[in-house]
Amino acid sequence: NELVFSGVQPTGNLHLGNYLGAIKRFVEMQERDAQCLYCVVDLHAITLWQDPQALKGQIREVTAAFLAAGIDPKRSIVFNQSQVPQHAELAWIFNCVARLGWLNRMTQFKDKAGKDRENASIGLYDYPVLMAADILAYRATHVPVGEDQKQHLELTRDIAQKFNNDFAQSILAHGHGEQFFPLTEPLIGGPAARVMSLRDGTKKMSKSDPSEYSRINLTDDADAIAQKVRKAKTDPEPLPSEAAGLAGRPEADNLVGIFAALRGITRDEVLKDFGGAQFSSFKPALVDLAVEMLAPIGAEMKRLVADPAYIDGVLADGASRAEAIAAPTLDAVKDIVGFVRKG
Ligand code: AMP
Ligand code: TRP
Repeated sequence: NELVFSGVQPTGNLHLGNYLGAIKRFVEMQERDAQCLYCVVDLHAITLWQDPQALKGQIREVTAAFLAAGIDPKRSIVFNQSQVPQHAELAWIFNCVARLGWLNRMTQFKDKAGKDRENASIGLYDYPVLMAADILAYRATHVPVGEDQKQHLELTRDIAQKFNNDFAQSILAHGHGEQFFPLTEPLIGGPAARVMSLRDGTKKMSKSDPSEYSRINLTDDADAIAQKVRKAKTDPEPLPSEAAGLAGRPEADNLVGIFAALRGITRDEVLKDFGGAQFSSFKPALVDLAVEMLAPIGAEMKRLVADPAYIDGVLADGASRAEAIAAPTLDAVKDIVGFVRKG
């Protein structure tokens, strides 16, 4: 039984990398008729301080992006993490399964904590354990994410496996067979698994980059998209005729990858049309395509965030449906671990 789970942090500035690496692929999973849960991970967001008033807006904005991109809140379950208490509850139990050594290897913590590690929140360090709980509270089998989440998904599998081993006898005794938690498959791939900054082809496109020119935001209008693509860093060579020729040309590779992902084709297919072309002719084609694909999403996002009551209703409905799946998992976990339960 296929069950898809993924999450996006409400930390502002949703960009093309979030769309192509994650949200667009969420929609594709929904179209394959898998049961999908898409979560606005507000508990993860506060691992770095968030302004409370802004946070509410950001939660609604990510929800609006999901809906505007084509996630149907009737077919998929759209909700925010803090409304479903089982995430935090399972995270605690997983804190007692995960090992310090495993977390010490997480590169995202090292990046986000920066030099002043002593002053990072415990939550930032524990972030991947909460992520494992998000996924395994639903015993999700597939998780579509960008490339930067690969290590966290490996940790999720390690936690599932250790739980299954540590409690093997109890799992059997409670009638759950050999394996209680699945070993979740990451779905990372396509031409835009790692969209790079428009200013520097060796840096990931990110919400927190101080340069607005580094990223295309989902709410950018046609003018902003055109300006950012026009200013995007390139090299002086024309485009090669096949993808292999993009090696060692990170900026060219990135722009061709973005074009491919927006179109739903491969880099090689893009280069069949643009091999030999100069950026002066490729960039306008990329602008047209990006505007065509993104403008309707941005417009729909703006329309939706103007109606917070509707968004909040979608989230509340999603939370009850999510909890209906997560609560039985937590009941079983508490039995397996050996807690005494109310009658
Ligand atoms: P976040 O904003 O960190 O919650 O990321 C939400 C989703 O977008 C995750 O699946 C990330 O892996 C994905 N993502 C973020 N940045 C990029 C990027 N530059 N390229 C591709 N995917 C990305
Ligand atoms: N850590 C993910 C990110 O920053 C967001 C996330 C939280 C997530 N929980 C998740 C993604 C569960 C997939 C599954 O992008």
